[in-house]
Amino acid sequence: MTDYEMLCRQAREIMDADPWYVAALSNISSLLMDALPDLNWAGFYLLRGGRLVVGPFQGKPACVHIPAGKGVCGTSLAEDRVLNVPDVHQFPGHIACDSASNSEIVIPLHRDGKPVGVMDIDSPEFSRFSGEDEAGLRKIAGMIEEMIAFEGEV
Ligand code: SME
Repeated sequence: MTDYEMLCRQAREIMDADPWYVAALSNISSLLMDALPDLNWAGFYLLRGGRLVVGPFQGKPACVHIPAGKGVCGTSLAEDRVLNVPDVHQFPGHIACDSASNSEIVIPLHRDGKPVGVMDIDSPEFSRFSGEDEAGLRKIAGMIEEMIAFEGEV
């Protein structure tokens, strides 16, 4: 089982070292990929010019742009809610960047109440993300919202 308390401490150390989003989100995607078993992609899409653009991540090269409302990431952004999808093949409009993905969790990120992007984690296992994973990942996302210095803020 993943120790989310420890992961939160490590995420805090990463952002304390330097909150600049490129440095911190790169290390947080590496932390997630390393600490959570059975993942094939972990990272961030950031809102830029009204659409999502791929940000720091670990895994295979991914789709560069995702319009709001498209795929799991764009739907999470547009509907402003966490999407924990047990079988991505059943999700209408799912964007298959890596054909190995079978389940996915996407958590929207905000700054001052406004959307700034999403955290996206994919697994080759079906139903990979339990309620406990979702709660732990929501906590990490909340810390990112508080601590990260996004573009234009540095
Ligand atoms: N599957 C995602 C696209 C991003 S990749 O998984 C990295 C989606 O449907 O939004």
